[in-house]
Amino acid sequence: MTKKTLGIGLIGAGFIGRAHAFGYHTMPAVFANAGALPVLKVMCDTPAARAKQVADELGFPCSTDDWRKLVNDPEVDIVDICAPSNLHREIALAAIAAGKHVYCEKPVGLGGAEATEIAAAAKKKGIKTQVGFSYARHPVIGLAKKLIDEGALGKLIHMRWTYNEDYMSDPAAPFTWRNDAKLGSRAGALGDLGAHGLAITGVLAGEISAVCARTVLATPKRKDPATGELRQVDNEDVTDCLFECSNGVTGIFSTSRIACGSKMHLSFELVGSQGTVRWNAERYNELDYYDSREPKDRQGFRTIFANASHAPYGNFCPAPGHGIGFNDFKVIEIYELMEAIASGKRVLTDMDDGARVGRIMDAVLDSADKRAWVSVG
Ligand SMILES: NC(=O)c1ccc[n+]([C@@H]2O[C@H](COP(=O)([O-])OP(=O)(O)OC[C@H]3O[C@@H](n4cnc5c(N)ncnc54)[C@H](O)[C@@H]3O)[C@@H](O)[C@H]2O)c1
Repeated sequence: MTKKTLGIGLIGAGFIGRAHAFGYHTMPAVFANAGALPVLKVMCDTPAARAKQVADELGFPCSTDDWRKLVNDPEVDIVDICAPSNLHREIALAAIAAGKHVYCEKPVGLGGAEATEIAAAAKKKGIKTQVGFSYARHPVIGLAKKLIDEGALGKLIHMRWTYNEDYMSDPAAPFTWRNDAKLGSRAGALGDLGAHGLAITGVLAGEISAVCARTVLATPKRKDPATGELRQVDNEDVTDCLFECSNGVTGIFSTSRIACGSKMHLSFELVGSQGTVRWNAERYNELDYYDSREPKDRQGFRTIFANASHAPYGNFCPAPGHGIGFNDFKVIEIYELMEAIASGKRVLTDMDDGARVGRIMDAVLDSADKRAWVSVG
């Protein structure tokens, strides 16, 4: 039987756009059972010469420097947005109006209001969405969720998480679009990194309903490589935050883009009345689990390596402990979106999740401005 095919239009071929292209090429080989197959149609970037070059490199037959042409191309069924945050809203709303499905990178748009507007438009039009919260769909995060749902942790009580990297720890690191509120939003480390921790909190612990935060901007001015001038950085280097969930779980998180030595330190510890799960993305493929019901003489954390019983690990590799990696999250996201379109399933982190994370980030930054607890809108 010939499978349904879905035409892909990809906007932005930077860091994450290339990972998406990898995902489209790899998905059919990993998920032979997929209900639909992606077919690369149009690549958009700027200027036009760059668009043509990356289209050739990544295997797209057509290129353009005008995302509106891509959105309105009848060959394109899925508009994949890997451009800076200021472009998300306009592109997503145009794509939805044209009846296209939307795959958008996180954090969606310039804040909760934009992401909520996109989510509402998508629902009204009945199209499918996917938001690229990568880590939330690691097979061992699925295992953590299963343990929680089965009651293995007892009643959830407290979550502590961190997402630290050091890509801006050097004060001489140049000003980029991420430092400009008009292009990258008023969320700095919180948007770039913390959004992932918030998505995982939503999947595992519950819905964050109130926050109390403080932010730090350690390097307020950075050199703009385009002009050579020092420019004011519009968003924070570090966010620390207490949070409460509507189900009674409480927690604390910290996220930094200037944490010297941390390369991919997304980690959490989720404590229940009977046990704990903990994870550190610098060791992606290991979940630590503690069960307080075990006899005292053998109590202790045990490390469970990802294996084929943790779907969809087995699609990538039959052997336990061999591991999957960063680009594989995009393979999984693309598969989930294909399934959602082919069979109506909801994806794990769609635009509603993107909007919820956006509203939490707004509340976190409002709280830091006011130096007070703030409820999530
Ligand atoms: N899920 C993840 O782990 C992850 C990782 C990195 C980035 N991201 C997100 O992905 C998005 C892009 O980030 P990035 O790191 O790839 O940025 P980047 O700067 O590396 O790439 C952005 C690309 O968009 C292109 N672009 C800019 N304006 C454009 C326009 N008008 N039309 C078409 N193309 C245009 C740029 O030329 C560039 O190729 C952001 O939302 C970011 O937060 C997510």
